[in-house]
Amino acid sequence: MADPAAPHRVSWHHSAVIYEVYLRSFADGSGDGVGDLAGVRARLPYLRDLGVDALWITPWYVSPMADGGYDVADYRDIDPLFGTLAEAEALIEATHSSGLKIITDIVPNHCSDKHPWFAAALAAGPGSPERARFWFRPGRGAGGELPPNDWTSMFGGPAWTRITEPDGAPGEWYLHLYAREQPDLNWDNPEVRAEFESILRFWLDRDIDGFRIDVADFLVKDPRLPDVAGWPEDAPKPWEARDGLHAIYRSWRKIIDSYPREGLLVGEMWLKPLTRLRPYLTGDELHTAFNFDYLGTPWDAARLRAVIDLTLTSIGTAGPWVLSNHDVTRHLTRYGRAGTGGGWHPDPPPPDLALGTRRARAAILLSLALPGSAYIYQGEELGLWEVEDIPDELIADPIFERTDHLVRGRDGCRVPLPWQADAAGFGFGPAGPARTAGPWLPQPPAWKSLAADAEDGDRQSMLELYRAALRLRRTRDRLDDDTLDWQDTPDGVLAFRRPGGLLCVVNISGQDIALPPHDAVLLASADLADGKLSPDTAAWLS
Ligand code: NOJ
Repeated sequence: MADPAAPHRVSWHHSAVIYEVYLRSFADGSGDGVGDLAGVRARLPYLRDLGVDALWITPWYVSPMADGGYDVADYRDIDPLFGTLAEAEALIEATHSSGLKIITDIVPNHCSDKHPWFAAALAAGPGSPERARFWFRPGRGAGGELPPNDWTSMFGGPAWTRITEPDGAPGEWYLHLYAREQPDLNWDNPEVRAEFESILRFWLDRDIDGFRIDVADFLVKDPRLPDVAGWPEDAPKPWEARDGLHAIYRSWRKIIDSYPREGLLVGEMWLKPLTRLRPYLTGDELHTAFNFDYLGTPWDAARLRAVIDLTLTSIGTAGPWVLSNHDVTRHLTRYGRAGTGGGWHPDPPPPDLALGTRRARAAILLSLALPGSAYIYQGEELGLWEVEDIPDELIADPIFERTDHLVRGRDGCRVPLPWQADAAGFGFGPAGPARTAGPWLPQPPAWKSLAADAEDGDRQSMLELYRAALRLRRTRDRLDDDTLDWQDTPDGVLAFRRPGGLLCVVNISGQDIALPPHDAVLLASADLADGKLSPDTAAWLS
């Protein structure tokens, strides 16, 4: 029987702050201009000192890099661009020795068109078991020249590509909800399920602490593959959030729970509203799923309070707080667009970076004061902004080509990090003869002042704000208690008290406000003049 006097123990990931390493752009150890495992390993002290609890590393697998590694050709090995399997094993161990956890991305919805299974499917022909691992279908029209249905790719253009059969004749079509180099796997096929269960075990056997599940809501398709023209706007699409997902995640949970290490399954699911995440978070499936409603909420007190309340009442703290990731415009830039606040903009007006910085400083104090876990996207702790003037010829995101250059895509948030103000490529890679290429995307010269070594020790810097907030969060917060008590405030102001005594106040009202009664100011995102909190400022009080 459980000992009622034993302290209530929550899992590490319940309140963890997890740092997203977008591998290609984090740090380059080899000197070829692309981030790699050696680069991550060398920066472990930086991450430990930042005060995060865990790293999430974006796909490190063998990949032709048609979508930055989200097109996997071998799930059990590391791409030579990033290192070797032995280096990955050593990185896992070194991360643990630094007192941090490490989770990796798993990409189950699709693989690469260079995966051996896809090559076998092309060679084997229609009706074969090899094709049954994917979604091959004959085309419509007299000669099969039209795609099997009207689905479009998330990256633009049709979601189907026609192949040439082994005999040279125009043949079947295959489904790809993303780029043509990313054929969708057929999760109705037991072989696909067994393969991914084996892949999970492969990495769990190597002591990985969990998985960020790419496109976790798209794996199961309506096998009738119906057209979606005229589909009701608010009805789930025939590839989205289908009941069959539950059995998959139940089996994954059983696997991860069978290991001694306490594992984490976090789903990437852009389901709106976030209450639609709840069925996957009931205890025997995923542990959490990113809180993208929070990410997309404009910088507006009432709307932020509403999404926080919705999160806490509908899914508890299971939906971790996240402001940015490698797929969206950096939040500093979003918050710097007067009137657009959060979310996306097709033809963005230039941001006010000073305003964006001010708001981003306040936003991280808000996120880190909320109960539950939070994610930090690399570079936000340096105050990096979205780079919106990358020359066309350097853009690598497949979205750019697939939309006929209408949408520039996500490279602007993937620009390599500046580590050293005075080094070539801001120290993204090594100096000297090892350096054979500069960073794979150009860094704005103005990032000199945002380099990690330039911010180190500067009390006013974003980096020191993050460090101080993470330090305080660890020492002061009662991380096992998820309650939050809203305080009465004027319009445009958020204030809540947390167990342990932390009082977080965020002023989005547009005018100075007096601080509520308090004993001490623990931390503030901007100087407090005469005890007043100026607009777009947050403070932690006790
Ligand atoms: C979500 C990933 O975060 C994104 O970068 C990728 O392009 C798509 N899934 C497809 O794998």
